[in-house]
Amino acid sequence: MKDFNDVVTLEIEEGIAVVTLNSPPVNALSHAVRTGLRDAFAAANADDTAEAIVLICAGRTFIAGADISEFGSDAPKDTGASIFSVLDDSPKPVIAAIHGTALGGGLEVALSAHYRVATTSAKVGLPEVHLGLLPGGGGTQRLPRLTGAATALDLITSGRHVPAAEALALGIVDEVVSDDDLRGSAVHFARQIADKGGPLTRVRDLDEKVAADRDNPELFDQFVESHPKLFRGFIAPTEIVECIRAAVTLPFDEGMAEEQARFQTLLNSSESAAQRYYFFAERAARKIADVPADTPRIPVNTVGIIGAGTMGGGIAMNFVNAGIPVTIVEQKQEALDRGLATIRKNYERTASKGRITTAQVEERMGLITGSVSMDDLATVDMVIEAVFERMDVKKDVFTQLDRICKPGAILATNTSALNVDEIASATSRPEYVVGTHFFSPANVMKLLENVRGEKTSKEVIATVMALSRTIGKIAVLVGVCPGFVGNRILFARSRASEQLVMEGAMPWDVDRALTNFGLPMGTYQMSDLAGLDIGWVKGEPTAYPIKDALCELDRRGQKTGAGFYDYDESRKATPSPITAQIVEDERAKAGVTPREISEEEILERALLPMINEGFKILQEGMAERASDIDVVYVNGYGWPVYRGGPMFYAEQLGAEAVLEKLRGYQERLGEDFAPAALLEAVVAKGQSISTLTKADAASLTAD
Ligand code: 3HC
Ligand code: NAI
Repeated sequence: MKDFNDVVTLEIEEGIAVVTLNSPPVNALSHAVRTGLRDAFAAANADDTAEAIVLICAGRTFIAGADISEFGSDAPKDTGASIFSVLDDSPKPVIAAIHGTALGGGLEVALSAHYRVATTSAKVGLPEVHLGLLPGGGGTQRLPRLTGAATALDLITSGRHVPAAEALALGIVDEVVSDDDLRGSAVHFARQIADKGGPLTRVRDLDEKVAADRDNPELFDQFVESHPKLFRGFIAPTEIVECIRAAVTLPFDEGMAEEQARFQTLLNSSESAAQRYYFFAERAARKIADVPADTPRIPVNTVGIIGAGTMGGGIAMNFVNAGIPVTIVEQKQEALDRGLATIRKNYERTASKGRITTAQVEERMGLITGSVSMDDLATVDMVIEAVFERMDVKKDVFTQLDRICKPGAILATNTSALNVDEIASATSRPEYVVGTHFFSPANVMKLLENVRGEKTSKEVIATVMALSRTIGKIAVLVGVCPGFVGNRILFARSRASEQLVMEGAMPWDVDRALTNFGLPMGTYQMSDLAGLDIGWVKGEPTAYPIKDALCELDRRGQKTGAGFYDYDESRKATPSPITAQIVEDERAKAGVTPREISEEEILERALLPMINEGFKILQEGMAERASDIDVVYVNGYGWPVYRGGPMFYAEQLGAEAVLEKLRGYQERLGEDFAPAALLEAVVAKGQSISTLTKADAASLTAD
């Protein structure tokens, strides 16, 4: 057996060269891998005893793509032929043997082989679009030659992972084999090709599919027109369409040159930098500095949910979808029946869209047990409380749980604003109490803020973070503070928005600035959606007089057909003259002469306080790292991923510029804009923002 760069080996088996790549965790195409593969292929081609070459990977997956961490770094550049043309130009047939996921550059390697064999459970895809990129290893040129342009447009702009059976039907792979013995199957396949003497099918030479597309040039514009959302704010999809167009209209080499040029443009874009940063941010969020990966976890095989309201039902669905049985407890049979009926209706709607079968609806409902007695939670491994948001009610529930639940059960609260430590104090086992802050609708929203109480044990944190992944959530660990991370930052924006409106902007001006920035909704559109009456009690003024006045008129948001905006039957919003009048009245009461505020100023004044609050959160140790704040914002609040998140955005603006602007607004508008001590320290010490951890924050602000 020969070894290349410690990551690739070459063996000859039955006259077939087997090139095995072993570069954990995901066999990414790092510089070492690329050179190792190139040398191994040269050796295989030079070995007279080998008639064909199988490329296979060790470990959990085939090549998962380029090594993303090398992009934008000073990793050594390749010299000589690319790995793709090494395979393509091999004089001996090359068979890619795929298991796990062949993604991005990984699939492009496979497409450069002459044949592809995949296991039943394998998936293939070109997900570069999620990194703000396009496939830069010939994917945009080779895939359309196998599948035609329409399928290539779908696959490359969506980045979706295609299961082996579908890949076979689409012509992306040549054979699907059992998961048991991929190597044996691939060697057997290679043997047959060698015995037949070929053919040496190069994907680059295929013309039939793209020739048919040449007669239908309007397919590209039609695709763009019918997928407006895909293109909004993102730049990669447009470049992808142009590359696939080139695959259809240009000779292979010219198409490759076009792909390379457009790939480089994207690689240098701020959008791709943000999306690559975000890829690693999401993975970093799983790691907790003082809770090592090998911390023992508590087995969670059964879950209890208290409250079958808006949140309880959705939370239950997450567990059921992952096959974990749930007991839901309500106060009264009627409320329980209503909650269970809503869950059933949700599943039936999903089934009607063909996303699950009717048998699965029953299977899932079968995993749910309803009860009106908390005593039925005596044996569950974990309880999530989702009752009314009142401290006395929560404490009462936790006192009972402490009495009823078995020792070692995790006791979680879904509170959105109450103090988790105070809730924990109602029990004799605060180390088992934790917050799990789901977002509404809880069965849909990906984000989960797991709240670490003062006494929450490491085992409980490790368990809850891992369990979050099991139920398909992206979890971020946060500390106990009002609003945790997400809502706390949102409060800062609400205050700033109110100030803007009082000074001269209309609510829709604020919303327009925010949606033009890329957010799906502005402050007031979001308020109308959530309901203006959250925290409002008739006759009791809050800090938001305009909202109070709207509530008094029963304009409580979309649910009442009117809020800051007026709504028609199809929920289309239009700016309301009634709201405009209320705004003017409130300004007059406050003695304000309104002034025109530019969109640029609106945006700064809405976003800078969010960034500043992010610094305060980190400074207080309420988030593990700056990038966790970005994960919260991208997943829970629609911050455009091509802008990375508020902390990454701050980095792009420059810490110094952010500080200076905040100081300017502080002078003009007061202490709401007072810069966080951590921001001052970051500027003073020249620190980068997006890599900041809680520990960095502590040491930066210590002196
Ligand atoms: N480059 C560098 N590191 C990578 C990587 C990549 N392409 N893919 C995964 N990793 C790392 C992760 O950061 C993680 O590291 P950590 O353990 O230190 O946090 C580790 O590998 C394991 O990854 P996951 O936790 O995501 O493991 P999963 O088993 O959940 O998922 C996966 C595996 C489906 C392969 C997923 O990691 C994934 O989607 N990876 C990215 C795939 C991708 O986008 N490929 C295209 C790259 S761009 C490209 O190829 C350009 C080319 O066209 C020229
Ligand atoms: P909800 O009012 O829709 O549901 C609460 C349910 O709990 C009701 O069905 C009620 O009958 C039941 N309940 C009350 N006391 C109970 C008890 N002692 N035993 C059993 N059941 C009891 O409220 P919602 O919106 O589901 O909120 C629940 C919790 O989730 C609150 O703490 C809230 O702050 C939090 N939350 C809500 C979000 C939202 O958008 N609605 C988002 C995130 C968190």
